[in-house]
Amino acid sequence: MASPATGGVVIVGSGLIGRSWAMLFASGGFKVKLYDIEQKQIASALENIRKEMKLLEQSGSLKGSLNAEQQLSLISGCSNLAEAVEGAMHIQECVPENLELKKKIFAQLDRAVDDSVVLSSSSSCLLPSKLFAGLAHVKQCIVAHPVNPPYYVPLVELVPHPETAPATMDRAYALMKKIGQSPVRVLKEIDGFVLNRLQYAVISEAWRLVEEGVVSPNDLDLVMSDGLGMRYAFIGPLETMHLNAEGMVSYCDRYSEGMKRVLKTFGPVPEFSGATVEKVNQDMCTKVPDDPEHLAARRQWRDDCLMRLAKLKQQAQPQ
Ligand code: NAI
Repeated sequence: MASPATGGVVIVGSGLIGRSWAMLFASGGFKVKLYDIEQKQIASALENIRKEMKLLEQSGSLKGSLNAEQQLSLISGCSNLAEAVEGAMHIQECVPENLELKKKIFAQLDRAVDDSVVLSSSSSCLLPSKLFAGLAHVKQCIVAHPVNPPYYVPLVELVPHPETAPATMDRAYALMKKIGQSPVRVLKEIDGFVLNRLQYAVISEAWRLVEEGVVSPNDLDLVMSDGLGMRYAFIGPLETMHLNAEGMVSYCDRYSEGMKRVLKTFGPVPEFSGATVEKVNQDMCTKVPDDPEHLAARRQWRDDCLMRLAKLKQQAQPQ
């Protein structure tokens, strides 16, 4: 891989995630070009980003050292992909989660770029070995999977193709740090990456406990939001073990037999269908009716909470 180009960032696909990436890169002082197959998506993205940034500035939550106008001046739309990628140092693909579509985009990019740019996909679950198969620039390819909403939830999983150059991982890692995100290196690809494997493990046991009549859906959620989740916003499950005894070795000595006994009672993969869906849905809809207005209001509340939590986490950094 050649030495890094000094150009800006190109976002391919100006939907929900593309817009968030654009705001994050601009907050780090990078020039951003927004490309989309739909012209109106670019226009609506630019308008939406302007609104969001102004609101963030008013509430004192705008990221980065530049003000909103300065950040907005870094973002522009572009309706020609070949022109957009010229001289770019990083291209972040954000088109819908469809393998054939993403492969088509990466084949297009592969023909348009030189060997100095990082080609990055936002894919939530498509494996790099499938996404980047056969590309001439495969060494420059990586998945950078964000978490929604990326502006408040900083984690980015970096997942390499088996042939991805270490320099590509290093550059993507450094860039994510530079824009204030929290990158993790997934050392080899695996279905679901790391975040979704953990998430599915939790969902699956949650589902079994409700299905078996151990706990109600609402109380199950409380176990996470008022219990485990309180800690997990600050420390992970492994550090939790370390702190819950006199260190990790002591935790394993004390609790491994109990953990193994309980783990052996876990049931099979749930079907996520039938009566349990109805039961869970009833509780969820009592709390948050599933019409667009109620769902949007609850998402807004969630994002406000996450924004405040992000601020708290910053203040709570250990010295
Ligand atoms: P979206 O549907 O909001 O946006 C996709 C955009 O891609 C649209 O603006 C569409 O016009 C554009 N597009 C479609 N075909 C195109 C093409 N050939 N060339 C250029 N642009 C094209 O999708 P969203 O939610 O932003 O997802 C994008 C990616 O991010 C997906 O891979 C998704 O799995 C991933 N992701 C999504 C998360 C989420 O919570 N929505 C979280 C983390 C990752």
